[in-house]
Amino acid sequence: MTDSKIIRYENISMVYSDSQVISDINFEVKKGEFVTVIGSSGCGKTTLLKMANGLIIPTSGNVIVNGKNTRQTDLTSLRRSIGYCVQGSVLFPHMTVAKNIAYVPNLLNKRDRKKIDAAVDKWMNIVGLEFSMKERYPYQLSGGQQQRVGIARSLAVSPEILLMDEPFGSVDEITRGMLQDEIIRIHEQTGITILFVTHDINEAMRLGTKVLVMDRGCVKQYDSPDAVRKNPADEFVEKLLFRSVK
Ligand SMILES: Nc1ncnc2c1ncn2[C@@H]1O[C@H](COP(=O)(O)OP(=O)(O)OP(=O)(O)O)[C@@H](O)[C@H]1O
Ligand SMILES: [Mg+2]
Repeated sequence: MTDSKIIRYENISMVYSDSQVISDINFEVKKGEFVTVIGSSGCGKTTLLKMANGLIIPTSGNVIVNGKNTRQTDLTSLRRSIGYCVQGSVLFPHMTVAKNIAYVPNLLNKRDRKKIDAAVDKWMNIVGLEFSMKERYPYQLSGGQQQRVGIARSLAVSPEILLMDEPFGSVDEITRGMLQDEIIRIHEQTGITILFVTHDINEAMRLGTKVLVMDRGCVKQYDSPDAVRKNPADEFVEKLLFRSVK
């Protein structure tokens, strides 16, 4: 396929009962890009993210992922190539850490136990979870540890596209910095395409190859961090940048 656009949002609107939460959004994500999505609470970030794996189908407009329209394609097979790290990191409460991480590889590759165990070790190591935690259950972990299990689980399928919804929200500043370094490294090494929602402007500017600034269901600006910094599209973006450290 010659089309380098892996995700296209075309004239997207979303209406819940009578309130419009997304208004005619258009943008595209190229293969290998790391797009950070930033905007105030309730502006539609999660809604937009969930449209990429078909968890939400827009009221109007089309989302095209890898050339396939989410309205028409088989969503189960589409989701096999998409990792999803949910906001608030929801783990399976009755499964241990190891089983949570192995959940999808397990489904895809039932017989190869060694391969599954190796994948669990690899991803626990990458997100900084001690191996001694493998047999613990989610209720025996801190919020930040649970979040890291969620990140490991979303990466363990070796997805082509990774959707991350405020993945580092409940970790301390030091761990957050480490996880940011890791996700940058994973992105550089694997060439994975990432859509990453955050409400932290510093995180958005540091991680993104492109930053998508949203306000009340609209895209205010979509450009490289440098371009956003040099030429903020309007007062809203300027105010947001005022909180940025650089
Ligand atoms: N199922 C639903 N029914 C009705 N309204 C909804 C539904 N899901 C979301 N909304 C509304 O749509 C708007 C956008 O929600 P969304 O979850 O996308 O926001 P967000 O930008 O991710 O916010 P946050 O930063 O708080 O996570 C909000 O006003 C929310 O209340
Ligand atoms: Mg959200």
